[in-house]
Amino acid sequence: MLKTDNSSPGDGDQVSGHGMWSSKMAFILAATGSAVGLGNIWRFPYVTAENGGGAFVLIYLLCIAVIGIPLLMSEILLGRAGRHSPINSLKLLAQRSKRTWRWMFVGVLGALIGWMILSFYSMVAGWTLAYSWHYLGEIFATAPPAFDPQGKFGGLLASPGALIFWLTAFILLSLGVVALGVEKGLERAVRILMPMLFALLLIMVGYGMSTGFFQQTISYLFSPDFSKVDGNTILQALGQAFFSLSLGMTGIMAYGAYVPRDVPIGRTAATIALADTGVAVLAGMAIFPIVFANGLATGEGPGLIFVTLPYAFADMSYGSFFGFGFFLLLAVAAWTSAISLMEPAVAFLSESKRFTRVSAALVVGAATWVLALGSVFAMNIWSGFTIAGKNFQELLEYVASNLLLPLGGLTTAVFVGWALSRVIAREQLSELSESRYQLWRFLVRYVAPILVFVVFLSAAGVI
Ligand code: PHE
Repeated sequence: MLKTDNSSPGDGDQVSGHGMWSSKMAFILAATGSAVGLGNIWRFPYVTAENGGGAFVLIYLLCIAVIGIPLLMSEILLGRAGRHSPINSLKLLAQRSKRTWRWMFVGVLGALIGWMILSFYSMVAGWTLAYSWHYLGEIFATAPPAFDPQGKFGGLLASPGALIFWLTAFILLSLGVVALGVEKGLERAVRILMPMLFALLLIMVGYGMSTGFFQQTISYLFSPDFSKVDGNTILQALGQAFFSLSLGMTGIMAYGAYVPRDVPIGRTAATIALADTGVAVLAGMAIFPIVFANGLATGEGPGLIFVTLPYAFADMSYGSFFGFGFFLLLAVAAWTSAISLMEPAVAFLSESKRFTRVSAALVVGAATWVLALGSVFAMNIWSGFTIAGKNFQELLEYVASNLLLPLGGLTTAVFVGWALSRVIAREQLSELSESRYQLWRFLVRYVAPILVFVVFLSAAGVI
């Protein structure tokens, strides 16, 4: 069970069996690394397109501010107060608050959601690896490359062997870092590579401006047409907010366990949310001009960036270099997110005497790989099997992101707002003024749970 030998959860700064972020900055980088990933650059543009643009974006931004930031704070504080894996932290904190230990099932749910998301996430991250490999080849090619983005993407999806190869590579990379301990490998990667991705994204936005379709993009993204909004649009926006901020599956809680005492949780959460949202909006501003300029369909689905960006890279000077850099950095961003998807399960297993960190990472990696095969085959040999018009991968993505993440967030908010001892919460948020603390408390007690619940009802057609 718990290694409680030398730890005093809640007040000590040493976590038995786990490490500690070296500074406040290290935690911000790691949490931003978790938040910024495929969710911002791959998922945000395509889900925005499927939901008609402006109104969706506005609801998404509202979800980030009203539900996202308070929940981000909640997960960090639970992690830091519990100082164990999310499952055991929840159990400990529930017991210390004189509540039932069954609250730990919020953590079990989180670890399972992480596994589900990581499976299709690894496949998509594999696409980015395949694309960077392709552009690397282009850099060294002597003949001009054939230009056929749709065909190229289709060819990749049609090949189970290629998909499995790249996703296996990605899972191995992720479990490698998790096995070493997140606080070691991760910090350096995030510190150097994330700013590079940000810079490349700015270059892509600059390119977008040069296409003459930037104005159209801005109005597409920011002028809302609420006639297109229904319960399902709001559910998708909520799901995207959770997905993008890594919320609802205890990944941030797991990272919170390694946060030093002197980190101000409120300001840190706001910084992470701002960085994450900034990247998503920039990605939108980079991608839609290309879509409009080339008369492509916005409703391309999950393939959106993989069929649109090649138009830009083919058009730009040194496009192969940019293509290589972009997809490689995107793979790195996905990598730093995948680690946080694995961490809750791995931290939990490695707290039991039966597993070391390495064997725990191997078990979680293997389980992820098996589930990922379902997504791979959904792209080709099983593409005919659909439920409600969705193949296995789409169904998994929909259920995990839009239903389970908000459900995880709802239960976390109820735990923090109603079950957790007020003394623990106030102590963790000691840097907040009384009025800000009350605002946070109001948001997690009432606003977040009620809003999520209402969105569920409205998407189900009940209201
Ligand atoms: N937030 C990550 C991204 O945007 C994905 C993620 C989701 C990570 C849920 C952890 C938990 O790519």
